[in-house]
Formats: sequence, C-alpha cells, structure tokens
Amino acid sequence: MSYIRNRFNTPATEPVVKYTSSLPFDKRLYRHDIAGSIAHTRMLAKQGIIPQQDADTIIKNLTGIASEIEQGKFEFKAELEDIHMAIEARLFELTGEVAGKLHTARSRNDQVALDMRLFAKEAISETLAQLRHLQQSLVELAEGNKDVVMPGYTHLQPAQPVLLAHHLLAYFEMFQRDAERFGDALKRTDVMPLGSGALAGVAYDIDRDFIARELGFSQISQNSMDAVSDRDFVIEYLAAASICMMHLSRLAEEIIIWSSSEFDFIELDDAYATGSSIMPQKKNSDVAELARGRVGRIYGNLIALLTTMKALPLSYNRDLQEDKEGLFDSVDTLLSSLEVFSGMISSLKIKGGNMERAASRDYILATDLADYLVSRGEIFRSAHGITARLVSYAAEKGKALNQLSLSEYKRFSPLFNENTLTISKSSSVAARNITGGTAPQQVKKAIDRAKKMIGESNKGVS
Ligand code: ARG
Repeated sequence: MSYIRNRFNTPATEPVVKYTSSLPFDKRLYRHDIAGSIAHTRMLAKQGIIPQQDADTIIKNLTGIASEIEQGKFEFKAELEDIHMAIEARLFELTGEVAGKLHTARSRNDQVALDMRLFAKEAISETLAQLRHLQQSLVELAEGNKDVVMPGYTHLQPAQPVLLAHHLLAYFEMFQRDAERFGDALKRTDVMPLGSGALAGVAYDIDRDFIARELGFSQISQNSMDAVSDRDFVIEYLAAASICMMHLSRLAEEIIIWSSSEFDFIELDDAYATGSSIMPQKKNSDVAELARGRVGRIYGNLIALLTTMKALPLSYNRDLQEDKEGLFDSVDTLLSSLEVFSGMISSLKIKGGNMERAASRDYILATDLADYLVSRGEIFRSAHGITARLVSYAAEKGKALNQLSLSEYKRFSPLFNENTLTISKSSSVAARNITGGTAPQQVKKAIDRAKKMIGESNKGVS
C-alpha cells in the first residue's frame, strides 16, 4: 500500500488503522508541512546532502501537491497514517524514487513538532488581530457614549454610579492582558525544532539556522529530546485562550443581563439575536450565550492536553498526537467568538436613558453622602453609620435620598447643609478623579490611551 516498507509481516487491521490515524484532522497542517519540507529540501541541497536537481524536482512537486489539496483534488487515503505520510506518498507517485530523499536527516517527530509550531504561530497572530478588533469596538462604543452614567455593581447590587465607558474599558484592559499573554507565548513558540530527528539529533551536516530563517523562526531549539517531545507551547496557547474566553464569557453574561427586559440597558442588533419558535415576542441573545457556553470546550481542551502530557517519559510518544484536535478546536472557537463579539459590540444600541434612570435609584449615592460628611470633618466610620441610618429612614418613608428635606438630613448630622442636596450621580462620578477612576476626565484619558495602543499595534501588524 505504501512505498515505505517496514519490518512487519502482517498489515494493521482496519480498526487499528482507523484508531491510529491522525489524517482526518491533521490534514489541516498540510500548508505548514509542505512549507517545512520545502525549507528542509532547500537546506539539504545547499549543504550538498542531496543534488540540487533532485531538490528542484521535490520542491516543484510539493508545490503542486499544495495546489492539489487547495483545489480539493488530493485524495486523502485512509490507510496513510497522517498528513506527513500522505504528502510523501503522493510525492512518490509523482516523482518516483527521488521522493525518498526528502526525509533525509529528518524524522516525523521533528517534522510534526515543526508543523505544530508553524500552526501555533499563525494562530497567535490571528488571535492578536481579532483581539485588537474587539478592543477597538469596545473603545468606539465607549467613546460614542462617553457621557452615559450607569449603576456600577458589586454582588450584582447597584453600588456606585460609573460611566458606561469606564465599565466597557474594564474589558479593554482584560483583553489587553490577554494579548500580552499570547504575545509572550509567541516567544516560546517561535523556536525551530528541525534537526532534532527522531530524538537524538541527526548525523548529517545540516544548517538548522538556514531552515529557521527560511521559515521565519527567530530561534532554533537547544535540546533534541525536548524539542520532539514537549508541547508546552500548545498548552500555553490553550491556557491563554482559556483566560481570554473566560473574559469573553463575563462580557457575554453582561450583554445577556443588560438586554433582559428587567434591565433593558441595551438592545442587540437583530443580526446578533434569534427569535423563539414558539414565543413570538422573544429576542434572545444566543450569540452571547453560545460564547458563554463554549468556554467549557476551551477549558476542556487545556485540561485534556495537560493530562495527556502528565508523566509522559522522554522523548516522543504517540500520546502526543492528541495535541492537535484540542488546539484546532480552541483556535476555531476563540477566533470565531472574538470575531462575532466585535460585530455584536459595534452594533449594540445603548439605552442611555434607562441606564441613567437606574443610576438614580437604590440609594446609589449613599457613599457620596458619607464622603461629604468626611469632607466636613466627620470620621469615615461614623459617616458611614450616619448615612446607613439615613438610608434606612428614607427606605422606611419610601423616599429617595433627593426627596428628603434638609431638616430631615440634619436630624442625622448637623454637618449636612444645602450643598448636600446638590450631590448627584454626575457629581459622584466627577469626584472619582484619580488614575483608574470613573471621572469623565480620567475616562477621556483612558480612551485616548486605548486608542493610542490600538494604533501602535496596528502599525506593528502591517
Ligand atoms: N501523527 C503523528 C503525530 O501527530 C506524527 C508523528 C508520528 N511519529 C511516529 N513516530 N509515529 O504525533
């Protein structure tokens, strides 16, 4: 069946072939595999390990195989174990014995490590680009609604007024740290493993740095056994993806809550909502719910690979084939989630009036009253107690704080005066004029800073 002969007398049974094959999923690595093989072949010819003419034939046909795959003309034969074998077997069909020279000074163990690193590097740069889009959507929404005041929550109870923009920029920060985590993982992914051979290194005078340069790697691996057998770079992607998706699930949850009729803070664009098959009035936030739900997969993929790798002896073991599906699934899930979120955020309708009204209820200015007493010389803990009694009095009377008269205020502390009555949600946010606070002046600075960061990273990408 294959042009590769081994020492076995009996072929593997159908179920075994099926059980061991990675071709159904690792065919996704064909571009990386072919790019790696072309770089390796160029190096072999440059070093005089194979004749230039053979290298030219191999490279020409590998390029041809890539287009066959792209055009859907390539036959993926079930009996070939993986994408590496499938491509090499096809090369053999096209070129005969010359194909056999490609695998000189190489093993599938360093080959697959290379392919995975090329794939992960690409995945990281796509993830960074999607993160930037989402950050940009958040900043634009913040800037477009920069004066809207809403309740800030703790324990999901109204706590203090904040600017909506401040709330949105909290997510900018989370996604910024996510981007940094992916960028950091990139440094350790960007290491070229070819030359490690099966495990011990190869016995040919190869030029590893040349291959690294050809493929755009900034470093070469320093220990062949490590290089063929660790997948910590995959785990790092999965870990960073887990944290990022966790952040996304928090944003998803807020979008779901805010679009409920009880909150009614936002309206999703129709393109990001679905109806119900039975209840005609429904507009459900399914996109956000699916993102919230899909976190489970990404955590699962991380735990699966950590578990696969645990206690795995050096060096390559077939267990390592299990690194692929989880990574592919996590990359697909994360990229598609980030992409739909950017669109959903950009098209979100903010119901500023409802947010403002909600920020005027529930004694949300109690902290400001306590702070006011402190500004007039009261000790904070006592001010807190006075205000607590005042709030409970108002609640009993069924009145909001701004419906109490000055004489009612004065019953609780002589320090209250006419200025007390001017305390409002806008004076409340304006007072928090400290780096990281919600005052409009600070939020404007934060928006400018965020825009600058996006601009700089866009420069870096192009
Ligand atoms: N399909 C294998 C994997 O994904 C490729 C390497 C196979 N190496 C081997 N010695 N069987 O890990």
